[in-house]
Amino acid sequence: MTGFAMMEKATQYELRLAERMSRLGTETAFEVLNKARALERQGREIIHLEIGEPDFDTPANIVDAGIEALQKGWTHYGPSAGLPELRQAIAEEVSGSRGVQVGSDEVVVVPGGKPIIFFTVLALADVGDEVIYPNPGFPIYESMIHYVGAQAMPIRLHEEKDFGLDVDELASLISDRTKLIILNSPHNPTGGVLSEQDIRDIAEAIGERNIMVLSDEIYSRLIFDGKHYSIMSVPGFKERTILLDGFSKTYAMTGWRMGYGVMRPDLATHITRLMTNSNSCTASFTQVAGIEAIRGDQSSVDHMRAEFQRRRDVFVAGLNRIKGFSCRMPKGAFYVFPNVSKTGWKSKKLADALLEEAGVACLSGTAFGDFGEGYLRFSVANSLENLNKALERIDQWTKRNL
Ligand SMILES: Cc1ncc(COP(=O)(O)O)c(C=O)c1O
Repeated sequence: MTGFAMMEKATQYELRLAERMSRLGTETAFEVLNKARALERQGREIIHLEIGEPDFDTPANIVDAGIEALQKGWTHYGPSAGLPELRQAIAEEVSGSRGVQVGSDEVVVVPGGKPIIFFTVLALADVGDEVIYPNPGFPIYESMIHYVGAQAMPIRLHEEKDFGLDVDELASLISDRTKLIILNSPHNPTGGVLSEQDIRDIAEAIGERNIMVLSDEIYSRLIFDGKHYSIMSVPGFKERTILLDGFSKTYAMTGWRMGYGVMRPDLATHITRLMTNSNSCTASFTQVAGIEAIRGDQSSVDHMRAEFQRRRDVFVAGLNRIKGFSCRMPKGAFYVFPNVSKTGWKSKKLADALLEEAGVACLSGTAFGDFGEGYLRFSVANSLENLNKALERIDQWTKRNL
C-alpha cells in the first residue's frame, strides 16, 4: 500500500479528540510567520516584525560552552528540576537581582519560559477557580486558563497609563475564588513596565489573601527607562510568587529551549513532578551553556539592550509620522504597540493588509486578547535598515489606502 493510500484509509476513522482540546488556544505569531513564509515562497519579499525573538546570534561564549558540553558528553538525562550547578547559579542571580534570599531548591529549570506558565496553571488552577491575567497579554495565559477549565478574568491594560493596570479594577476582580494572578513586566505585547510603586499597589490590593502570583519576568533585563521590580521583592510575597524568567530573550537563546521558575520548595517539588511526567529534564548541554550565560561576560546583554533601544526610538518616531498611527514609547521588551484606531481599520484586517499588500508582517492587537482591538504589535528585533524599510512601506500603504 502506498503512503497516500494509507493516509486515505486512516481518514476513515473519525478523530476523537479529548474535549479539553477545544479550549486550547494558540500563539498567532507562529501562524503569521507561516503565512509570511508562504508569501516568500511565491517570490514576495517580507519584512518580519511579527515574531518575538532577538535577531542576534547567541553570544559566542555561550555557544562555545554548549559545544564543549556536547563534546564532554553532556548528552544524557539529568535531574528533572535541573542541573544542581545551574540551579545554584540561578538562585544566586535571582537573590541579587530581586533582593530576596533564594535557595537552589526553589529553582526549577524547564525547556523555555513557557512550560512554567503551562505547569503553574496546571498545578494550581482547578475547574471553576478564577485566574486574573493581563489583556492585552501573552496569549498562552488565556489559552492555559481555558484549557484547565478555570475561569478567565482579564484585567484591562490602559494605554493612557502606559499600558499599566488600574489597581481599583484589579481589586474589584479579586474574589474568594481567585487562585492565581498573572503579572507580566516588562510586558508583551505593549512594552509597558510596572514601576516599583505599581507593584506595591498591586501587592496591597492582594493584601494577605492566599492568592498565588505568577510573575512573568522573561524581559526583566530588557528595560530602557526605569528599573525592574518584582513582586517577589515585596515583603510577604516571596512564598506567594512564582517568578518566571529565562534565557530566550536575555541571551538570544530562543532555540535552545531553557527557562526557569523560582518558587517555594513545596510547590517546586510538584512543578518538578510535572517535568518528570512531560519532558523528564531540560537538555543537559543546554543547561551547561546556561551556567556560562549567567556566570560569564554580560556585555552582550548590554549591547543587545542598547541596540533594541536605538531601534525602538527610530521605529516609534517613524510610526508617529504615519497617518492614523500614534505610538507611545515602550519602556521595555522589544515590542511597540501603536494605536491604529484612527485608520478606521479593524486591527486584524489592517495587519493582514500590511502583510499582503505592503510586505510587512506584524500582529493584530487582538492576537493578545479582546482589549488589543485598535492596536498592532511590531517587534523591533530586526535591523534598522529593515525597520526603516518597513516604515516606508507602511507609510506608502496608508497614503494609498486611507
Ligand atoms: C511574556 C512572555 N512570556 C513567556 C514567553 C516564553 O518564552 P520562551 O521562548 O522562553 O518559552 C514569551 C515568549 O515570547 C513571552 O513573550
